[in-house]
Amino acid sequence: MPARRTSIHGEWSSRLAFILAATGSAVGLGNIWRFPYVTGESGGGAFVILYLVCVAAIGLPVMMAEIMLGRRGRQSPINTMRTLAREEGRSPAWQYVGWLGMAAGFLILSFYSVIAGWTLAYALRSVSGVFNGATAEGVAAIFEEFISDPERLLAWHTIFMVMTTIVVSRGVKSGLEQAVRYLMPALFVLLVVMVGYAMNTGQFEQAVNYLFTPDFSKITSGVVLNAMGQAFFSLSLGMGAIMIYGSYLSHTASIPRTAAIIALMDTLVAILAGLAIFPLVFEYGLAPSAGPGLIFQTLPIAFGQMPGGALVGFLFFVLLVFAAWTSAISLVEPVVAWLVENRGMQRVKAAALTGLMAWLCGILALLSLNLWSGDARFTFFGKGFLDLFDWVTSNVMLPLGGLLISVFAAWIMTRESSRGELGLANGMGYTLWRVLVRYVTPVAIGLILLNKTGILTP
Ligand code: TRP
Repeated sequence: MPARRTSIHGEWSSRLAFILAATGSAVGLGNIWRFPYVTGESGGGAFVILYLVCVAAIGLPVMMAEIMLGRRGRQSPINTMRTLAREEGRSPAWQYVGWLGMAAGFLILSFYSVIAGWTLAYALRSVSGVFNGATAEGVAAIFEEFISDPERLLAWHTIFMVMTTIVVSRGVKSGLEQAVRYLMPALFVLLVVMVGYAMNTGQFEQAVNYLFTPDFSKITSGVVLNAMGQAFFSLSLGMGAIMIYGSYLSHTASIPRTAAIIALMDTLVAILAGLAIFPLVFEYGLAPSAGPGLIFQTLPIAFGQMPGGALVGFLFFVLLVFAAWTSAISLVEPVVAWLVENRGMQRVKAAALTGLMAWLCGILALLSLNLWSGDARFTFFGKGFLDLFDWVTSNVMLPLGGLLISVFAAWIMTRESSRGELGLANGMGYTLWRVLVRYVTPVAIGLILLNKTGILTP
């Protein structure tokens, strides 16, 4: 076995620090903004069950594989894949898994920052009291007006991208641990408060039924793909974010337990978000399939009616900004690590360059909401740039990355290599993981992708 590598970018101070950072990456807009809207578009219960199955059967094993590869390679995903492939005597072409991930991270960051910008704007709006006593129609009108103003969206998008770039340029570890340690629990508490409020709307039961009673007739190849895509997006898998965080993890930490904790917390937050939002959707007669604006068209109604709602709304959106912030950082980190390693760039410069490029790309997403909305020249497969970036990254690029990572971890790496690195003392646990990553995840991902493209229609 080769001598243990160390990362030139440093190491987490403890296993807890890694758990906090990885949870910070996983918990974000994906749980609170994306999960409810994709659930609504996919018809509810059946989608939720499929999503949970994907988290357990695909997400968890792939997460373990990603952390394991990262810790063994100790470099940016591109260099990690190249190094590990060489070590196993295989083709350096495996580095393209890292390139695919970098491209996905870029695209995600670009629209992620736009949505995080909405969240920033909504924090300010809540506290200013514009939602006080507003009706569902009023809140919807405020939202429509907001997204039709490109200049305002651009201002918030810019602020968020600058915030992200600043943290990354100072190194991922300083500051991040503190943010996650205190702000994540606070977000959690506020989410529970929102669920408590939703319980009193009278439509709580309907929402619970909607979320947890599967209507299997609603399952189509698209719904299955959405569920898998949501699992990858929400857990930050398939692009190297968790891999790079794993590369800063100490050798003594147990990977399986760590991964299980992260997946559990992430899933819990998503379910709570669903329970907070759908009772409002039904109470006010809104369409569950309203799309990416869903939480911005529902939650403000509740903030406008509850006592102290201006403050609760403000806190909620501020905490959501922090959750998005700690996620966005993990999207930039693989690119920055690569620029530092391969181009000898200073961290600050690398972060600024990455942020600038993603900011430019985000402008395409932003304009698709207003100036280019419905313009055939900027519409692809019926989607504008924002929807297109969102769909193609989650439903194609991340699963493809996950598939290749599984194949690499289970077919290219030898048993000795992966077993030693995973730290699964328990022989049965290791066998289960290996069977999952060798057969179950690659086959499942492959079938779901092929099925959707129509190559394999039942
Ligand atoms: N998981 C984050 C969320 O739910 C988003 C995110 C951060 C992400 N890093 C990622 C998604 C890497 C895919 C890949 O908001």
